[in-house]
Amino acid sequence: MTMEKDTGPVGAAHVPVMVAEAVEWLRPRPGAFLLDATVGLGGHAAALLAAAADTRLLGLDRDPAALAIARERLGTSGDRVVLRQARFADVSRVLHEVGWDGADAVLVDLGVSSLQLDDPTRGFSFQAEGPLDMRMDPTTGVDAAEIVNRWPEEELARLLRDYGEEPRARAVARAIVRRRPLATTAALANVVRGVLGRGRPGHHPATRTFQALRIAVNDELTELDQFLADGWMLLRPGGRLAVLAYHSLEDRRVKETFRRWAANCVCPPRTPVCVCGWRAKVRVLTPRPVRPAAAEIARNPRARSARLRVVERLGARP
Ligand SMILES: C[S@@+](CC[C@H](N)C(=O)[O-])C[C@H]1O[C@@H](n2cnc3c(N)ncnc32)[C@H](O)[C@@H]1O
Repeated sequence: MTMEKDTGPVGAAHVPVMVAEAVEWLRPRPGAFLLDATVGLGGHAAALLAAAADTRLLGLDRDPAALAIARERLGTSGDRVVLRQARFADVSRVLHEVGWDGADAVLVDLGVSSLQLDDPTRGFSFQAEGPLDMRMDPTTGVDAAEIVNRWPEEELARLLRDYGEEPRARAVARAIVRRRPLATTAALANVVRGVLGRGRPGHHPATRTFQALRIAVNDELTELDQFLADGWMLLRPGGRLAVLAYHSLEDRRVKETFRRWAANCVCPPRTPVCVCGWRAKVRVLTPRPVRPAAAEIARNPRARSARLRVVERLGARP
């Protein structure tokens, strides 16, 4: 979703999205504690580390292959950098393990990396033949083949509608069930093309189906919801959290959560007197999402759907 094709040494052609904007909004200060909850191949992390002296960075990713590359890339920063294989829903536990009381800048760059998308053996791409896998952490969990070949038609249709916003979800689900068993990404893409036709230029008809499966396989929305439940608590006073989202299912959650964190009351509408006792924890710095510049989209079409939202925790820095 966010990177161009690999053409050079490992990590070199990885194009992280809106790096300058992420650094500018997170504005790392000397000595800051930086948390990159989706460190991927380390592009944003490297830029954040370079932005101020004496910073420390904790980087998480659920994909061991991504972490190995990030480790190679960021390794020169010595003990300033700690990398852990973990899901960001578990970030509080990891923070506790490494002895941090919070972070001054937190980045979450959602979605998949080029490492995952462009490697046919990972099964994320409809452009190449590969196994129906799609697990970001290939050592655990249910793969896409399990869902494609075993889920009842009704559930498959609901998945395609809810996670892929596929208007013809029922027809696609019916065709998949009829053509079972499906073993490869190409076989699945062909079934979808058989139902939807060739699609509009630049948009493969299987895009929505693959997105839906990827979200389900990796339980992406539950992960995000768990992170957002009390994500403001990760921030030290004055600390900032930036989230880069790539589709409306993610961005809506981020927008609504930030609004709730910034509210002075979260009682249901028309409650005559406030009974919730909630007081604002953050202020929203981006009332509208920040979008990539046209030049970045021209250079890296995978950036086109990116939306950056940022909050700042209230309270004075110690
Ligand atoms: C868009 S890439 C991040 C790229 C990174 N910002 C960079 O500059 O290289 C998203 C990364 O998040 C990871 N990821 C997705 N969901 C995750 C989760 N719930 N917990 C931890 N890592 C996750 C993916 O494995 C992937 O490496």
